[in-house]
Amino acid sequence: MTLQGKTVVLGVSGGIAAYKMPNVAHALQKLGADVHVVMTQNATQFITPLVFETLTRNRCVVGMFGHNEKCEVEHIALAQAADVLLIAPATANVLAKLAHGIADDMLTTVTLAAACPKLVAPAMNTQMLQNAVTQDNLALLRGYGFTVIPSATGALACGGAGSGRLPEEGLLVDYVLRAVACDQDLRGRKVVVTAGATQEPLDPVRVLTNRSTGKMGYAVARACMLHGADVTLLAAENIALPPVPFVKTVHFTTAASLFAAVKEHAMNADALIMAAAVADYRPAEVAANKLKKGDGSLMLALERTEDILAWVGAHKPGDLFTCGFSMETENVLQNSAAKLRSKHLDMIVANDLGTPGAGFGVDTNVVTLITPDGTEALPLQSKEDIGHILAQRIAAALR
Ligand code: CTP
Repeated sequence: MTLQGKTVVLGVSGGIAAYKMPNVAHALQKLGADVHVVMTQNATQFITPLVFETLTRNRCVVGMFGHNEKCEVEHIALAQAADVLLIAPATANVLAKLAHGIADDMLTTVTLAAACPKLVAPAMNTQMLQNAVTQDNLALLRGYGFTVIPSATGALACGGAGSGRLPEEGLLVDYVLRAVACDQDLRGRKVVVTAGATQEPLDPVRVLTNRSTGKMGYAVARACMLHGADVTLLAAENIALPPVPFVKTVHFTTAASLFAAVKEHAMNADALIMAAAVADYRPAEVAANKLKKGDGSLMLALERTEDILAWVGAHKPGDLFTCGFSMETENVLQNSAAKLRSKHLDMIVANDLGTPGAGFGVDTNVVTLITPDGTEALPLQSKEDIGHILAQRIAAALR
């Protein structure tokens, strides 16, 4: 994921959370963005422009007419160059000015002149945030097309706890990514992604499961979200990955619970991407108590689970795009193509567990996309990048 070629204008106003913004500027810069910081005079009481200038390698703009600043036309140029504008922290005062078109400093002037997506992250004392005046100003800003990033709840610098905290730096970066990183070619589309391993209980202690960690499914969900889709992620309960922002996550444990979740969420979706590794068998009986060991060997009776994708293939509405993942250790393409046909899929993503850089737990994969029209072998790359290619292919297929 990259912000290469994107200009991000970061507005910093005078709240204590300003001290967190160098991390955000640095993260955006590391993603490839050309970051320009505009501070209010009050913000410079909390942190110096030099910090931002060192991190972004761009001049940090503060006053309108200071000796260090260029002429007014330059801030119009900055507004025009911006692909996205993030104001964080946004104080009650700055929000009020923005909501009423007051442009009496560089930050408010650049914002008024900018036509790009504008994000504001209010951060202040809880009473100030909840005051009807502030809430009305936020409603006005939403009406003017601003995205208001909800404040986090927790300990506040003024003492006590409540809403009004600046959200985590990573979430602010995710808002910027969602606004400008990708073509919005899945906007208006509902996409359901499944991820992780099913667990089939044997007794209260033990489960039958597999080595899937959910990384590939999470990468696909994140990519579809960044391409503008409304994403529901059906995720194995035990996945140890940070949640994907802006997606609705529903947890499953067994193949049966995943089947129920797929029926509930996917049948009215535009696309279903089954990256989950689903058990084909479950214990025929689940022992009520822990199975105790004996001297001899133990035979387990297993019964088949439902093949979820095959069921979807047989019952889906014609316009639901279905994509499976096929994990093989031999005859990868033939076996995967057979699954494409037998499950009536629009695409199957085939990967060979034996290929270096592919498979469970790693951040990379080597896959071949198989559709009824042909195959496309993709080189070794991050699961994140594969997620983006899939999002693009699905968007093209849905068009
Ligand atoms: N799948 C499913 N329901 C199952 C088993 C698999 O929906 N009970 C889905 C998987 O999520 C995946 C695709 O089918 O998207 C292929 O899964 P895979 O395990 O590779 O193949 P199987 O169809 O289970 O066949 P086999 O295990 O014999 O290779």
